[in-house]
Order: sequence, then structure tokens, then C-alpha cells
Amino acid sequence: MTETVRLDDSAAGVARAAALLRDGALVSFPTETVYGLGADATNDRAVARIFEAKGRPRFNPLIVHLPDVAAVEAVAVLEGDALRLADAFWPGPLTLVLPRKETGGLSRLVSAGLPTVAVRVPDHGLARRLLAATGRPVAAPSANPSGRISPTEADHVLAGLSGRIEAVLDGGACPVGVESTIVGFAPGSGGGAVPEPVLLRPGGLPVEAIEACLGAPLAVQAEGGPVSAPGQLASHYAPRAPVRLGAVEARPDERLLGFGPVDGAVLNLSPSGDLVEAAANLFHHLHALDLDGARPIAVSPIPEHGLGVAINDRLRRAAAPRG
Ligand code: TXA
Ligand code: MG
Repeated sequence: MTETVRLDDSAAGVARAAALLRDGALVSFPTETVYGLGADATNDRAVARIFEAKGRPRFNPLIVHLPDVAAVEAVAVLEGDALRLADAFWPGPLTLVLPRKETGGLSRLVSAGLPTVAVRVPDHGLARRLLAATGRPVAAPSANPSGRISPTEADHVLAGLSGRIEAVLDGGACPVGVESTIVGFAPGSGGGAVPEPVLLRPGGLPVEAIEACLGAPLAVQAEGGPVSAPGQLASHYAPRAPVRLGAVEARPDERLLGFGPVDGAVLNLSPSGDLVEAAANLFHHLHALDLDGARPIAVSPIPEHGLGVAINDRLRRAAAPRG
């Protein structure tokens, strides 16, 4: 058992968090999407401890967080469409899966044996100060026990991981509220040498924005493909209570998680029907309903565009039969 300390966003708090990371400790920190469970990405033992703390069943690859494009280029090959996306959307809620550079010094565990590495430049003041103070790439999955709801507040992190990590840097609620959109690059169709972008996970950056930048539709990776992600496991992000989607109203035994101007909702993702607000509230409301009891949760229909794609993706996993 480790005693988990809560650090504040003062200069001293950031310096302490950075010193812990450099020392091989696990430190959770906020990003604009969700809280990450950070470790020095160049330290094999520290990275291995991430899997142990989360109770991840196997070594799934992790996202490496970096302060800027130059730092990304030290660990991965960033060119073509990937560079265009990086220039357009970093810092921000976009993760790119790129060819790894073996000279970058990253632990092999962050890639789980793949020749690629997932990288992102977060857009959150506290995360950016932490990355600058640490001066090393920081590997971080979402800071939740494996299979449970992602944390968007320091209290969620402590509820799931207290006693298993050294510290949580408390930056309040995460503004976006769903994980980053992940785009990978697959060998060109027809055997072409130029890799083509593929959506691996919908998330905080709407697919429409990516397609507008690329000027072409984005292919979607079929589940179980060569670079499948654990966020693609059927049951993931699950509260303890059963979840029913597309509910026009709650049945007598259910609690309604509303969207838009609906009656009888225990909690509402966005009474005005705003998808950005709904994304920011999603995990907060699921955590609150999870703590509140075991009665089934019914969820109002959510439109399938913009951030609604990521919200529906997470809700479908929360509703999926448990493995
Ligand atoms: O917003 C986010 O992305 C948050 C914050 C903390 O940055 N992180 C996050 O990490 O959601 P995690 O581990 O919960 O999800 C990372 C996803 C996983 O589904 C993993 O399989 C995929 O990224 N991934 C990582 N490296 C990969 C690789 N080399 N190839 C394919 N998928 C990869
Ligand atoms: Mg996760």
C-alpha cells in the first residue's frame, strides 16, 4: 500500500509531481480530456507499475504525452497527413499512432511490442506545466481501474486508485470530459507505401474536424484489426448498474440520465441539448449514478454527430454485456 497524496496546482505542487515522476513514481494529472495515470515513459519499471495499478489484464499500449511537436519528433516519425493533423490540432484532444523511433529512449512497454507509439500534446495548463517540469515523455492511460469509468476529477482518481499511486495533481474538472480521438496510420490500400489515416477511437476531437483538415473521409478501423485498442473491448467504461440506451422515458425501476429538455431525469447531460456540455458531464454523471446505487440507468437518445459520436461510443460500451 502506498499513501496517495493530493497535490495542488501551485508551483510547489507541480515541482513535487515532476520530482516524483522523475523518480519512477506514478502521478495522476489532469488533461483537457480526462485524468491520466502518468509514469516516466523512459523507465520500464515505472511503466510496468501503471499496468499493475490499473489491474490491466495485459500490456496494452499506452499514450505518451509530450509538450510540443519537436518533442514528438524525437520519439516518433511525424510526416505527411500526420504532420498536417498535428499542426492543425495540437495541443488538443487528438492522439496519433506513429512509427516509433528506436533512438527516442522510450520503454518498449509503452508500445506493448508494436513498432508504433501513440503520442499526444495535451492542451491543459497544468498538464503542460507538469510536462515542462518533468522534462521527459510521460506515459499515461486514463487514471481508472481497468474496465471502469474514466476520471474527470481528482476525487474520481482517488476513489479508484487511492493506495496504488503516489500522487494526484488536482486541477479540478476536465473541460472536454471524453478521451482523445485516436488516429492511426495503416499501409495504403492497394499496397501503396504512403500510410493512410484510420480512426481507431472517436473522442474529444470531432471526426468532422479531422475530415475537414484532410479534405477526405476518414476510414474507420474495424474492431479486432491489427492495431485494436482496449477502448474497443465491448464492455468498457462500465458503471456497476445496468445501462439502457435510447430511452424516451425511464421505467419505474430505472434512473433517467437525460439529454435535452426531458422530464424526470435524475441527472441531465445537457438540458439545452449541447453536445460539448454533455461530453464534459458524461463521466461525472456516470460516476455519480454509480455511487448512488444499483438501480438500472436509462439514457436519453444522443445525436450521432460531432462529440455525440464519442459520447454514444462510450455509452454503448457502458451498456454492453459484461465480460
Ligand atoms: O484522452 C486520452 O486519450 C487519455 C488522456 C489521459 O490522455 N488517455 C487515454 O488512454 O484514454 P488509454 O490508455 O485509456 O487509451 C489509450 C488507447 C488504448 O485504447 C490503446 O490501445 C490505444 O490508445 N493505443 C495506444 N498505443 C497504441 C498503438 N501503438 N497502436 C494502437 N493503439 C494504441
Ligand atoms: Mg482508458
